Amino acid sequence: MKKILVTGGTGYIGSHTVVELQAAGYDVIIIDNLSNSNESVVDGIERISGIRPLFVRLDCNDTDGLRSLFTAHPGICGIIHFAASKAVGESVRLPLMYYRNNIVTLLNLLELMQEFGVEGIVFSSSCTVYGQPDLLPVTEDAPVKPAMSPYGNTKQISEEIIRDAIHAGLPFRAVILRYFNPIGAHPSAEIGELPNGVPQNLVPFITQTAAGIRPELQVFGSDYDTPDGSCIRDYINVVDLSKAHVTAMNRMLENKSDQPMETFNLGTGRGLTVLELINAFEQSTGVKVPYRIVGRREGDIEKVWANPEHANKVLGWTAQTSVEDTLISAWKWQQKLGRQQ
Ligand code: UD1
Repeated sequence: MKKILVTGGTGYIGSHTVVELQAAGYDVIIIDNLSNSNESVVDGIERISGIRPLFVRLDCNDTDGLRSLFTAHPGICGIIHFAASKAVGESVRLPLMYYRNNIVTLLNLLELMQEFGVEGIVFSSSCTVYGQPDLLPVTEDAPVKPAMSPYGNTKQISEEIIRDAIHAGLPFRAVILRYFNPIGAHPSAEIGELPNGVPQNLVPFITQTAAGIRPELQVFGSDYDTPDGSCIRDYINVVDLSKAHVTAMNRMLENKSDQPMETFNLGTGRGLTVLELINAFEQSTGVKVPYRIVGRREGDIEKVWANPEHANKVLGWTAQTSVEDTLISAWKWQQKLGRQQ
C-alpha cells in the first residue's frame, strides 16, 4: 500500500480527502497541530471508511518532529499539504504568523521531501491568486494579481516556491490545486466543517443562522455589477474537491504527466450570487435564513468562477454534486453539531 502523508488531515478539506485516499487504497498518515480542528475527526473518518488512519499531533513548523516522523515511517511517497492558516481578516492583523504557518511549513516539507525521497506534493492553493480576473470564467493561465491580504500572498509565494524548486530540478513533482469556494460536508454527516468561533465563510454562517445560533446573516454588498447586486462565487462540493486530490496524486505517482509541475482550477464552472445561494439553501432544505443586506466587506472580489476544463480533461475529474445536495449535506452536518457552536 502506498503511504501518503496528509498535513492538516483533521481539517475541513483534509479530513474529506483522507476518506477518499483510503477508498482509493492508500495508507494515510495524518499530521495536524489541532490549532483549528479536533482529534475526534479521526473517529469520524474511521466511521466512514472502516479504517483508522494513523494520527500524529505535529506542527509542520517542528522540523525535528517532522524528521522523526519520516524516519519512523519510511516509504512515504506523496504529501498532500493542507496545513495552513486561512482567515483573510486575521492574516491582516497577524501577518508574521501567516508567513510562518503557511510559508515556513512548506519550506520544511520541501526540504524533507528531498532528504527522504518523497516523490510528489499536492498543494492547496486558492482562486484568490487571480484577484478580480479580467476574463471569466478564469483559466489557469490568467495572470496572478497583486495579493489583497497576507493570506492571499502566502498562496502566491507558496506557488512560486514550489515552481522555483521544480525549475531548479529538485527531485520531486508537484500539483497545485486552486480551489474555488469549497462547501458542504460528507453525506454521512460524520465529518464536515468545524468553524472556530464566528464563521467568516458564507455557508457555515448560513447553516448557523438557519439553526438559530446566529440571529441573522449579513449579505455583504448589493451594488456589485451582478444580476442581483451580490457577489458571485463558484461553490464546489467538498467531497468532489477531495476526489480531485486523489486523481492528482495517482497521476503524479504514476508519472503520467510530462510536466514536473501542473496547476488545476477546481470549481464547477458555474457562478452563483450570494442571494442565489441563500435561495438554493432555503429551497433545498425548506428552512428559512433570516438575512439583511449590508454594505460591502472590505477586500471582497466582485465575481469569480472557474473554467475547470483543464482538470476535466487532464485529471478526468468533474464536479458531480448539485449545489442543492451540497447544501443539504451542510445542513445535515449542522443539525448533527446542534447548538454546540
Ligand atoms: C475568500 C477567498 C478564498 C479563500 C477564503 C478563505 C476569494 C475570491 N476567495 O473566499 O480563496 O480561501 O476567502 O476564507 O478571494 N458573505 C456574506 N456574508 C457572510 C459571509 C460571506 O455575504 O457572512 C459573502 C462574501 O461577501 C462573498 C461570499 O459570501 O461574496 C463568499 O464569502 P466567503 O465564504 O467568506 O469566501 P470568499 O471570501 O469568497
